Amino acid sequence: MMTEKNDFVFSADELKSIEAHVAKYPEKRSAVMPALWIAQEKFGWLSEEAIKLVADTLDLPYSHVYGVASFYTMYFKKKAPKHLIEVCTCFSCSITGGPETYEYVKEKIEADESGFGKEGKIWVRQAECLGACDTAPMCQITNRTYVHNLTEEKVDELIEKLRKDEEIPFQSVPLKDQSVVD
Ligand code: FES
Repeated sequence: MMTEKNDFVFSADELKSIEAHVAKYPEKRSAVMPALWIAQEKFGWLSEEAIKLVADTLDLPYSHVYGVASFYTMYFKKKAPKHLIEVCTCFSCSITGGPETYEYVKEKIEADESGFGKEGKIWVRQAECLGACDTAPMCQITNRTYVHNLTEEKVDELIEKLRKDEEIPFQSVPLKDQSVVD
């Protein structure tokens, strides 16, 4: 279903949550990141209308909110499939198979040049260091869960779970031989 322009409103609960963030800081503008996050959770990505909604809610110029949204990769500026696999290809991951893992994911989901999988449910992109170098190669799922010590088998299992919209459970840094997707 197409989203109508007047669908771009925050619910009472979402506004309450944004107000709670605003209350933590001396200036409203400091709450722009959590407000953008709430908007992204609601709409799935940050369209011009969603960014405008955040700007209006916080009484900020559109250009300021857009500047924040465009700076951070965790904010999606285009409509994308539901699940994102971000494969780290930074130094530690690059010498332990990160780039090969990235290629493997692309191949598995039959990604196009934007990284969008053929089935429209999963997309992939490379990430800079995600701070889990000791469990390289690793990836992050849709701005949330880390999956460590990636192998092709783990990627297969992960993709199967995402295809079924299954939650990838949080795990702290695991032992080398520990499963990371169940
Ligand atoms: S280099 Fe991949 S997590 Fe640091």
